[in-house]
Amino acid sequence: MAATRIEVTAGAGAYPVVVGAGALDSLPALLDDAGLGSQLVVVSSPIVWELHGRRVATLLKKRVKAPVLIPDGERAKTLQTLARIYEALIKARADRSVTIIALGGGVIGDMVGFAAASYLRGVRLVHIPTTLMAQVDSAIGGKVGVNHALGKNLIGAFHPPKLVLADPAVLSTLPRREFRAGLYEVIKYGVIATPSLITDIHTKRAALFAHDAVAVEPVVRESCRIKAAIVSADERESGERRTLNFGHTVGHALEAVTDYRRFRHGEAVAYGMIAAAEIGAHRGVTPARALDAIRAVVTELGPLPPVSDLRASEIVAATKRDKKVVSGTLHFVVSTGLGTTSELTDVTDKELKLALKTMGIR
Ligand code: NAD
Ligand code: GLY
Repeated sequence: MAATRIEVTAGAGAYPVVVGAGALDSLPALLDDAGLGSQLVVVSSPIVWELHGRRVATLLKKRVKAPVLIPDGERAKTLQTLARIYEALIKARADRSVTIIALGGGVIGDMVGFAAASYLRGVRLVHIPTTLMAQVDSAIGGKVGVNHALGKNLIGAFHPPKLVLADPAVLSTLPRREFRAGLYEVIKYGVIATPSLITDIHTKRAALFAHDAVAVEPVVRESCRIKAAIVSADERESGERRTLNFGHTVGHALEAVTDYRRFRHGEAVAYGMIAAAEIGAHRGVTPARALDAIRAVVTELGPLPPVSDLRASEIVAATKRDKKVVSGTLHFVVSTGLGTTSELTDVTDKELKLALKTMGIR
């Protein structure tokens, strides 16, 4: 199937998201089309480079030198790792004409993106996302950054890429747990925009986990389409983009209170979506049918890391340090039925704790 090209509007200029199995082969042509060819630096992780680096190096031939390899995984998403990227760029004498290519999952993409946003006050960025999470979500929309010990993604910037090249074929090497973590973000798109994605996960689960391109590619394409439309309409998250935070308030808090060790980002979001659905149901805005559907599809995907040892009060405290707090008010996205959302700005600690308790949190 031919690759799909989805345009994203951004203040710094529109950019394409190219989605298709095998689309990676068009990397040199896409770089040339976008006028990005002169000085390229690839940043990846040892695992991703081992699996997919040779192909990228072959495609780019002599246009790239040795890659910059940094650790990935949530624990590595720190200012310390970021410093290693700056050091490599300075040592390589990268100047303002450089284009940095982030080859990896969401952690690589977010860190490399922040390096691109800040190195020499901003240089060009290309994302080649290699996890389902990164293909359907993190590579699109320009949010880049690192974690702080006290909160998730608290240090960052908006720095849209010049190109996103999402080739679902590279997902064939992704471990099952990582693939599943990405599927939770697909469920989010089902809840906030396209309910048929939830049906797809239910009916095509086996084919998705078998990395069957016929099943995976349309799910990636539709997710990219939704994310591209939302961030094009509201790049800086002043309104519509907040819907993408469905499940993320509690999700980010769970990641922070467990020191970024226990959950894959998507797993924490999975719990967060259930918490948001419980709060919405408690308020009478989320229909019971939607709550049941969200719980069912999350449960169906497999076991999540345990939460019974966590304290609700600690999680509630962590939500107060979230980026989504604006002028002291937490904007909490709830489902008003599959495909639609609204925002609550008056969720009380008591309501949050009640929702957390339904998930077995103390
Ligand atoms: P990750 O980047 O840590 O990757 C997970 C694991 O998969 C890593 O061990 C990595 O080495 C491995 N991996 C990557 N590609 C692989 C491949 N093709 N085959 C085999 N292994 C591979 O985690 P992630 O889930 O991709 O991303 C999570 C991060 O994304 C979080 O930090 C989250 O905050 C961020 N995120 C950002 C946005 C945004 O808008 N910027 C949106 C969603 C998520
Ligand atoms: N993942 C949330 C956003 O991009 O806004």
